[in-house]
Amino acid sequence: MSERSFLAWPFFEDHHRALAAEIAAWTAATIAPHEGAEEDVDGLTRRFVAALGEAGWLRYVVPAEFGGAHAGLDLRSLCLIRESLARVSALADTAFAMQGLGSAPIALFGTPALKERYLPLVRAGRQIAAFALSEPEGGSDVAGLRMTARRAGEHYVLDGRKTWISNGGIADHYIVFARTGEAPGAKGLSAFIVDAETPGLAIAERIGVIAPHPLATLAFEGCRVPADRLLGRPGDGFKIAMATLDIFRATVGAAALGFARRALEEALARSRKREAFGKTLAEFQATQLRLAEMATEIDAAALLVYRAAWAKDRLGGRVTREAAMAKLYATEAAQRVIDAAVQLWGGMGVVRGVPVERLYREIRALRIYEGTTEIQKLVIAAQLLSATA
Ligand code: CAA
Repeated sequence: MSERSFLAWPFFEDHHRALAAEIAAWTAATIAPHEGAEEDVDGLTRRFVAALGEAGWLRYVVPAEFGGAHAGLDLRSLCLIRESLARVSALADTAFAMQGLGSAPIALFGTPALKERYLPLVRAGRQIAAFALSEPEGGSDVAGLRMTARRAGEHYVLDGRKTWISNGGIADHYIVFARTGEAPGAKGLSAFIVDAETPGLAIAERIGVIAPHPLATLAFEGCRVPADRLLGRPGDGFKIAMATLDIFRATVGAAALGFARRALEEALARSRKREAFGKTLAEFQATQLRLAEMATEIDAAALLVYRAAWAKDRLGGRVTREAAMAKLYATEAAQRVIDAAVQLWGGMGVVRGVPVERLYREIRALRIYEGTTEIQKLVIAAQLLSATA
């Protein structure tokens, strides 16, 4: 059982405390039996999405009007759910997160008809969602993206490639960002919902990565998308991408927190049990110092993650700086905590399938996706400099 004292912090309300207990119990019963599974990633992801829908957890990724749990997205709930899932299965965490990332642009910027068409299915776990922003030429420079969308009567025609797309190959729809050219750079992008079976959209390749994850490159060639699948107005694409990332970046921090808490639990268990030089590892001060550092980094990460979530939920407005700090610190800290756990486990820590070995592989991508560590630093610096100008 994970450490729970943080739930007494003033960021939370009683319903969050109840939620944390419920999702932990559900994860233990439903997801834990699949812990460590690395085969049939697509099938497992589909089953996780369906199970999350059936159990009602996907109510947290859509607004109440479409069967959701809250009027809008409650970021603290999203973070608590990701933490709990990530503690046991990175794949289950991704399955949950992508239903949010791949539907929030619809909830935030879609027409009533689009919301009605997509959100109830996403909530039920019967429509797998994806978010297609990155391109082979670059993922960090969103304003420079090259994929084009040209208006042709009642359609837009999409041409170009997207890559590193989570759920690529198994998604039922993709939120696709493309250049419509209203202005140069950031102000000339638009966002579209593209159904997976749309002619002209193909899976160019599936990508195998360090830890199991459904991932693909998508190819769009003369892909005709009905004009009513545009989200917001032409030219709103950059704003839509950033507004969505501002919400979900804090949740990436929460997933990292779930990994880190699990690593600390594993380190504590090993330290109490493993003997060397006639005493347990826990009796060595060197171990105690390491454990103290891990716990302190975890609390610091949790403070930043839940500060960002609380600010979004309770203060409203942009949380760009808070979300960037939460993602930056929590993912980097989790990498350090997990590395320390592997070291405490010694040779056993690098044996394939041991929890700390799995965490060591799983954490790495979080420092890259949804804005690299370096991009988060630039975002924070831009906020600082604009505030003091
Ligand atoms: N919210 C609202 N508006 C924003 C904003 C935000 N968070 N960030 C910037 N803007 C506005 C700016 O105010 C500016 O508007 P004005 O011109 O009117 O002043 C405009 O948008 C352009 O902003 P910048 O000049 O800051 O843009 P930039 O091109 O210099 O850099 C960036 C922006 C922060 C680097 C951005 O491109 C970025 O976040 N890049 C990283 C993208 C990313 O996260 N990629 C990962 C892909 S998604 C993914 O990973 C999903 C997955 O795997 C599951």
